[in-house]
Amino acid sequence: MELRKEPLLTAAQIQKKVETLAGEISADYAGKELLLIAVLKGSLIFASDLMRRLTVPAGLEFIRARSYCQTRSRGCCEFLMLPERPVTGRHVLIIEDIVDTGITANSIVEYLAAQDPASLDICTLLDKPARRTTEIHPRYTGFAIENQFVVGYGMDYEEKGRNWPDIHVMK
Ligand code: IMP
Ligand code: MG
Repeated sequence: MELRKEPLLTAAQIQKKVETLAGEISADYAGKELLLIAVLKGSLIFASDLMRRLTVPAGLEFIRARSYCQTRSRGCCEFLMLPERPVTGRHVLIIEDIVDTGITANSIVEYLAAQDPASLDICTLLDKPARRTTEIHPRYTGFAIENQFVVGYGMDYEEKGRNWPDIHVMK
């Protein structure tokens, strides 16, 4: 299977954006302590690049969610991994690779909001706004992209392509 052609976003473009996002986040949360919640598996690489550029203290937890309905429009999600401790009173920033329908992000927000965090926002590297079926508005977005399937920089197609440094559109 050959997935790769010209990158949609090069490693250099991604790193520049990560730096910009980290600057904005560091300014917005100045004087506060962040708790990053990386959504596995896709956001692992983005989260690790982003957190190293933050100038505010930032803890790290993981969450892993999978939509289990055949028809994703029904919007149900199961959690395969959850943060170790409740996020009560914390400034929580969910780190996503890509927000597509928004079903995953929406389920995560609902789950965490019930624990009464001090604040709860989303930072996503990519956004496909045309595909949205939920009321999810990430506070930080790296790139808005067209309705196309992308692979690389943590994102996969059947576990392939996660380790590519660039982001490619799948043919
Ligand atoms: P949503 O619940 O429809 O918003 O989908 C969220 C998840 O689906 C993302 O976190 C990704 O793991 C996966 N996903 C959606 N679009 C893509 C894509 O273009 N490439 C790789 N994974 C994707
Ligand atoms: Mg994901």
